[in-house]
Amino acid sequence: MGPSISRITVTGGGPLNGIVPVGGAKNSVLKLMAATLLAEGTYHLDNVPRITDVDLMSDLLRATGCQVWFDEHRLTIDVPAVIEPIAPYEIVEQFRASIVVMGPMLARCGEAQVAMPGGDDFGPRPIDMHVRGLQELGAEFETSHGYLKVRADRLVGTTVVLEFPSVGATENLLMAAVLASGTTIIENAAREPEIVDLCEMLNTMGAKIRGSGSPTIAIDGVAELHAADHRVIPDRIEAATYLCAVGIAGGEITVGGARHEHMAMLCQKLGETGMRISHDPNGIWAMAPGRLRAVDCQSLPYPGIATDFKPFVVSLLATSIGVGIVTENLFSGRFRYVDELRRMGADISTDSHHAVIRGVPQLSGAPVRAHDIRAGAALVIAGLAADGETVVSDAEHVARGYEDLAGKLNGIGASVVVS
Ligand code: UD1
Repeated sequence: MGPSISRITVTGGGPLNGIVPVGGAKNSVLKLMAATLLAEGTYHLDNVPRITDVDLMSDLLRATGCQVWFDEHRLTIDVPAVIEPIAPYEIVEQFRASIVVMGPMLARCGEAQVAMPGGDDFGPRPIDMHVRGLQELGAEFETSHGYLKVRADRLVGTTVVLEFPSVGATENLLMAAVLASGTTIIENAAREPEIVDLCEMLNTMGAKIRGSGSPTIAIDGVAELHAADHRVIPDRIEAATYLCAVGIAGGEITVGGARHEHMAMLCQKLGETGMRISHDPNGIWAMAPGRLRAVDCQSLPYPGIATDFKPFVVSLLATSIGVGIVTENLFSGRFRYVDELRRMGADISTDSHHAVIRGVPQLSGAPVRAHDIRAGAALVIAGLAADGETVVSDAEHVARGYEDLAGKLNGIGASVVVS
């Protein structure tokens, strides 16, 4: 497990300067780990972040019979010839991404039992599209005692049209379809870079997937897959955290390893605020020349601005010049952290899907609470330019998705202490 932390204390101060390295993508590695359940053998995943959600997914894989261990940022997973296709409640309740083991378990074993997921505290997160898609491939579901039980003697490829380009549903369908008989077409598939990363690993394992990164993905089922090694893509959400941090605190940083093409829309939007952004193969360079201009923005499926970026943008707008309107199109209840920003003096009004942010010259440090991973990080970066000390409690949420956020921010001149 990563270090156990419950508080992050940020002392507002001067500008940020230097290079901050970005780790492997949380939202990718958790699915790559699930994909290992598809075939026996030894897998090596490189560039894996040391975060709590990876520890939880490791526990989940262990519960199925796998051996899992870390060596620095390399994760080795030994998958046995026979796995137990059960995702127990004690683990699943702690992180929602665990639902993605359903597809691979079903494909490999013809059955799976997965506890209904828990996870971040931002409104209802249904899994109806996962279920409907798998049903179309021939799976049968029943629920009992808080578990989803699914079975299929045989999965048969077909065309599945998703009502919405759900990331998780696309992933579950991909991992079921790779071993189905015949061809599966996923229409209105999610296009996120993490989907492309998963498809690349599945293809290295022997799958036949075309069209990842586009709205139509075609999967020719194969009889068998094999173990493989893979390097996890950089975490665009972590990178966005640092870009917005420099927007808030001022200064000039390079986010080492970040890939501009994974977050082009956000970079464009930050450019509209007056930030200067450029990129090369080594990362993204960003400079904030002073107080920024307010902009409007809305979260959309990729390549739009990710819903996960939005809390950082709200923190940035809290001290910009003018009024910005931020619209959340994916999840309800994802503005809860705004109450915490208000405690720091931010002038923000919200209804269910909109936040109207009137920039103030400076926030004032205050005790605040992290409701989820990104909200916690958004409060930390808001504290970077606040007057005095911001103490973020329930900060263990942050450790679910960030490896050493404090150390990395301190490396570019911030003053952040975990306790
Ligand atoms: C993933 C990411 C999360 C990100 C989100 C959207 C991981 C671990 N998490 O979550 O950080 O914010 O993508 O980019 O990768 N929906 C349904 N029915 C379903 C499935 C989804 O109604 O069966 C709805 C959700 O409630 C939400 C929207 O579709 O409103 C998007 O959800 P989805 O893309 O599935 O997000 P996740 O995969 O859960």
